[in-house]
Amino acid sequence: MILLNLISKTFGDRQILRNINLKVNNGEVLAILGYSGAGKTTLLKIISALDTNFTGEYLFNGINVKKNPEKVRKHITMVFQNPTMFRGTVFENVAYGLKVRGYDKEYIRDRVSEILELLGILEFMDKNAKKLSGGEKQRVAVARALVVDVDVYIFDEPTSNLDIENIKIIEGALENIKKMDKTVIITTHNLFQARRLASTVAYMEKGEIVEVGKTEEIFKKPKDERTYKFVNGTF
Ligand SMILES: Nc1ncnc2c1ncn2[C@@H]1O[C@H](COP(=O)(O)OP(=O)(O)OP(=O)(O)O)[C@@H](O)[C@H]1O
Ligand SMILES: [Mg+2]
Repeated sequence: MILLNLISKTFGDRQILRNINLKVNNGEVLAILGYSGAGKTTLLKIISALDTNFTGEYLFNGINVKKNPEKVRKHITMVFQNPTMFRGTVFENVAYGLKVRGYDKEYIRDRVSEILELLGILEFMDKNAKKLSGGEKQRVAVARALVVDVDVYIFDEPTSNLDIENIKIIEGALENIKKMDKTVIITTHNLFQARRLASTVAYMEKGEIVEVGKTEEIFKKPKDERTYKFVNGTF
């Protein structure tokens, strides 16, 4: 379980996150919504234990993340908003996470093939990952995350700039991990996607969490006027 207690963060003299309280239960699918610049990516980096430069307390299954980031990191994987490919083939890119975890070659080959197939990129296996199209790279990035068996999968706008076919493929892959009762945290500007995938929605504005609730409540009966405006697209 993820437990954030009064998390704040500043960059220079700008406060980017303000008193964030958030609880994410195991097996929950949380969508974090909010305008550009609200602080979503900043918050995800803290949740994934990549950034420990914050004030407040973050407990991951009872572990103090600030004191033990490495212990926590191995339970979480994050796909960045603009993923970069490592040098090498698509296969090597996706196999990397399994290699460092010490799996044997045969397992790696089977598992990577399975994930590439799921994401419709098996045919690109031996291609140079850096030379793929944007949509193909995004699927490789998702594959790199899905291939490892962790407790929490974090996706920062996994389908931004993608066409409907690619969105369908990636959402299908996310549905797959949902079924395995993993915790999933996603940010998206696509409200339909949040509604399709998430069990819980958090709405952020200006570094604060305005409201957290069950997905349908947030969309149909938000408590805060700011949330209402956001989900209804009114100014
Ligand atoms: N390394 C940094 N140094 C200084 N300011 C930063 C840094 N990273 C982010 N910020 C600022 O923090 C604020 C929140 O950024 P963040 O990337 O978390 O927003 P976001 O909600 O993810 O936006 P988007 O929807 O556009 O991805 C922005 O105003 C941004 O300029
Ligand atoms: Mg962002």
